[in-house]
Amino acid sequence: MVIKQKFLVFRKNPNESPRYERYEVPLKPGMSILEALFYIQDHYDSNFAFRYACRGAICGSCGMTIDKFPQLACRTQVAAVKSAKKPPKLPELTFGDVPTDWNEETEILIEPLPNMDPVKDLVVEMEPFWKFYEEVQPYFKREYNDVQPESLQSYEDARSIEHLVYCILCGICWTCPVNATNINYLGPTALAKAHRFIADTRVDDEHRGNIVKRVSNDDGVPACEKHFICNRVCPKGVKPGTAIQNIRKEYLTP
Ligand code: FES
Repeated sequence: MVIKQKFLVFRKNPNESPRYERYEVPLKPGMSILEALFYIQDHYDSNFAFRYACRGAICGSCGMTIDKFPQLACRTQVAAVKSAKKPPKLPELTFGDVPTDWNEETEILIEPLPNMDPVKDLVVEMEPFWKFYEEVQPYFKREYNDVQPESLQSYEDARSIEHLVYCILCGICWTCPVNATNINYLGPTALAKAHRFIADTRVDDEHRGNIVKRVSNDDGVPACEKHFICNRVCPKGVKPGTAIQNIRKEYLTP
């Protein structure tokens, strides 16, 4: 007998109010949420929009809110959603009027990423996210950093920033309550990337100083309210909140 999983999915057309639609998807062993979304798109509505690329938790495209917990759809197993332990003290996330008859025990609720405007269905506007990311200059500059044939780095120095390099720019850490209320906040992603380059021994003082200057503004590190929700939801263990703390401690004058 085929077991079917029920889904309650956030749907929205541009310039229209959101609504929630119900779907049933036949379960396959090891099925991910992303695969279930493909089924819905193939069998119910080819206009259903969501982002993905790698299907392997690398590209960061498939971030969405699954049962009120922002996660990567490609890495989340359908069969495990209801039994998975959620991080503690997640903020209340509201996207639209969830039907009052949502059965939390049996129906998986799919919604977009928090604190970004839904454009269509699960696709959100990420322009502010990328704008803030660019503002912290998260790259090497050849004129500063490539003075040798190779930019060498010791094993220890590489290890000290390795967890920050794992950031896949999925935007899940924008679950931060500060992003909900302050549209100018650089956000945990950009600040974690800033730390990744500030702390990189291959970055020269001028470039490092420019990054520190940018994140020192009121909308940067000082805007962080130390909720550490970013640490708890990050699917890659980057710990953006800790990175922000480290910038505060090591580079910002009190
Ligand atoms: S599809 Fe690339 S991270 Fe999920």
